[in-house]
Amino acid sequence: MKPQSAVLDLGGGHGRYARAFADAGHTVTLFDQPAVVGLARKRHGEALRYIEGDFHEADSFGGPYDLVMLCNIVHGESAAANASLVARAARSLRSGGRLAIRDMFLDEHR
Ligand SMILES: C[S@@+](CC[C@H](N)C(=O)[O-])C[C@H]1O[C@@H](n2cnc3c(N)ncnc32)[C@H](O)[C@@H]1O
Repeated sequence: MKPQSAVLDLGGGHGRYARAFADAGHTVTLFDQPAVVGLARKRHGEALRYIEGDFHEADSFGGPYDLVMLCNIVHGESAAANASLVARAARSLRSGGRLAIRDMFLDEHR
């Protein structure tokens, strides 16, 4: 990744992943529900940028970003919700930007 890239952590929660990218010199925006953003803001202050919202409803997530991360989000959403989320997230990327999905899969034994 290029230095000083613009990164969006969509559903970024606690902000630990976002903070790791910020500490590496990138400009990182954390998007989450208002109450969660409040907690992340207390923890990370001005190290991050924040957007409060509902990722099901938001038309835009700001940007353009070089990287959008969806970490541990898609497993909890329906196929239709994921298709919509990924499409809107992709629109917030600059040309050549990347969308990264990090998630888990639960088998029948959880
Ligand atoms: C399982 S946690 C993942 C947190 C972090 N990305 C990680 O990998 O550890 C899911 C996150 O998505 C957020 N979230 C769930 N529904 C949301 C919605 N409709 N709009 C915005 N954020 C939402 C939750 O508040 C939570 O922070």
